[in-house]
Amino acid sequence: MKNTSKYQLKCVQCGHITPDFKTWFAQKQCCPICGNKQSELIYFADYEQLNELFKTQPTSFWHYFDFLPLMDRKNIISCAEGAIPLERWSFLEDYAKNTQNIDCQIYVYRNDLNGGTNSFKDIAASMAASIFKENEISQYCIASTGNTATAYGKYLSLAGINAAIFMPDNAIEVSQAEISSYGQQVYRAKGDYTCAKKMAADYATKFNVLISSGNIDPIRVESKRTMVFEWLRMLGKMPDVYVQAISGGTGPLALDKAVRELDGKISQSVKLPKMLMIQTDKCDPMVQAWEKAKSNNFPDGYQNDYPIIDNPPTEISILATGNPATYPIVSQLIRRSGGDFIRVKESKIADIARIIAYERKTHVGPASAVCFLGLLEAIKNRQIESGQTVLLNMGEGIKRAPAFLNRLGHHIQLVATVEDCTLANMKENSKNLWDNLLSITF
Ligand SMILES: Cc1ncc(COP(=O)(O)O)c(C=O)c1O
Ligand SMILES: [Zn+2]
Repeated sequence: MKNTSKYQLKCVQCGHITPDFKTWFAQKQCCPICGNKQSELIYFADYEQLNELFKTQPTSFWHYFDFLPLMDRKNIISCAEGAIPLERWSFLEDYAKNTQNIDCQIYVYRNDLNGGTNSFKDIAASMAASIFKENEISQYCIASTGNTATAYGKYLSLAGINAAIFMPDNAIEVSQAEISSYGQQVYRAKGDYTCAKKMAADYATKFNVLISSGNIDPIRVESKRTMVFEWLRMLGKMPDVYVQAISGGTGPLALDKAVRELDGKISQSVKLPKMLMIQTDKCDPMVQAWEKAKSNNFPDGYQNDYPIIDNPPTEISILATGNPATYPIVSQLIRRSGGDFIRVKESKIADIARIIAYERKTHVGPASAVCFLGLLEAIKNRQIESGQTVLLNMGEGIKRAPAFLNRLGHHIQLVATVEDCTLANMKENSKNLWDNLLSITF
């Protein structure tokens, strides 16, 4: 007999309890009483255990097995995801100090080092594949702008689970090739992400196949919330400020879930950090909605007033959510955290990525570059204070968008003879990067 008392799901609207994922899937991933699609996981584990788990270095987020909704470890499908460093990047601290005289500590959470597909979607994909394996799901379908698609494509293949993956027509071609190379079926929708989502939903109905329920999917939220466990393990406290490029908002939802779950149950104080959510000027429905709400002093129902941008003209396909259906939930969360939605210029992503490459010898993907631009903007606007600890959730590495690397070169010369050459000088070659950096925000 399996132990069925490790966790249960609770409807956030009416409180109805669903005992396990088998029942949840049979209910078509919604509450059988009120129809709400959002249920939260409750665990019966002893949270004191976390203090013990914080003493050892994980090899993956499955380190927190007792706090995850899988019954049997033998079903784990893992590629060493979630065991990633939190690095202090002093050049960003210097920037804050030199430009605004802000003395803060800046940490970068290196999701590009996740073992599966180098994005912060690997954790959810690992958990989904494991839960589906345990519950004998053989077919799945999902719409995604790219990173979730690639991660699910790989991990579900590892579990032998078929996936139909719907992507918008602007998705990166390499991602489609990668997913299909694992044997999965890619459908490139003739339209944007909203169109791909609609087609995935129709596919799920037509073939009676389980479909991802999007950013509120408890599988995504529960796996992702382990990032908070990891910050507490590595930092010993919560950051004061959290910065992330936002598309649908699984990040802030998961962060909030972890904070409510842990507060008062472990020795550290667990408070919601001020959440700064970044979008570019080429796809900024949440920023637009927020600015309007803010200028009207957040009137009643502000959270339901947001624009829908059809075919957003962004090059960063993975952040191309023009219809931000989660805004009603996410906006209230950001407000509760004392946070903000920030717009950055998409035309600057290569500038910041070049500096990161020079300073850290690391290549960030375009969505990560957006997150760093947001930090610079927040510093400029003095939304970060001296003494604060800031955490940037760096979502992806260059492998997710290899063509972006072409844009990062800055000292390449065509030469006919050696007469045209001088001695290499790394410092000299890169001296204008800082001037450029200043021109990004000033
Ligand atoms: C690298 C990267 N950054 C940011 C995001 C946005 O994540 P969220 O679902 O929390 O909005 C995504 C995914 O959509 C992503 O892949
Ligand atoms: Zn309900």
